[in-house]
Amino acid sequence: MPHSHIPVITIDGPTASGKGTVAAKVAERLSFHLLDSGALYRLTALQALRRGTELRDEHGIAKLAEHLPARFVGHDVFLASENVTQAIRAEEVGNMASKIAALPSVRQALFALQLGFREAPGLVADGRDMGTVIFPTAKLKVFLTASVEARAERRYKQLIGKGFSANMDDLLADLQARDERDTKRAVAPLVPAEDAHLLDTSNMSAEEAIEQVLAWYAHA
Ligand code: CDP
Repeated sequence: MPHSHIPVITIDGPTASGKGTVAAKVAERLSFHLLDSGALYRLTALQALRRGTELRDEHGIAKLAEHLPARFVGHDVFLASENVTQAIRAEEVGNMASKIAALPSVRQALFALQLGFREAPGLVADGRDMGTVIFPTAKLKVFLTASVEARAERRYKQLIGKGFSANMDDLLADLQARDERDTKRAVAPLVPAEDAHLLDTSNMSAEEAIEQVLAWYAHA
């Protein structure tokens, strides 16, 4: 199959909107590959934090992104041979990821890497700019939203479930700061693609959201 004919479903949306869960399940149901693009920003952030590369050193951070030894094995994420599935979920890493994601040369460095995930029989790509920048010709584009309160509650449960400590007020403030950075940045800001289907999941279970995406795909 020519590369450009491999079907792609993009699922974009703000932090903690449930994109990750929905994207993973949709990929599983269709036996498609999965691209968690946020993990690439988180991996770059983790490298930068560990090496003490500062945010103002855009060139240095872009170099880390360009040579990122990222590997995805099942549900696990590796940096070279180290399993960092847990480590990249820490709030500190998420915050740094959101800051470095505003750097144009970092986004550029991760561009080709992301395109490489488009493999037969298909791909579900989860992120902020999957439908607008990385896969503009996707067969189906979904933009998932949820109220800030619903998202903070989900993030709280997710962090506690993973054994991290969490505080609701801090989480709300973090979410709002991250939304602000994601939507206001100059490159690839968080906006729905013109042809995206909008899905507000504030009062919806993950299963309902998954079924809706699959139903849209069946008619795409
Ligand atoms: O879990 P959460 O939604 O907070 O984050 P994520 O999807 O793992 O992504 C981490 C950070 O990377 C986000 O805060 C975004 O700023 C950034 N990101 C991006 O800019 N573009 C993408 N395609 C994916 C993530």
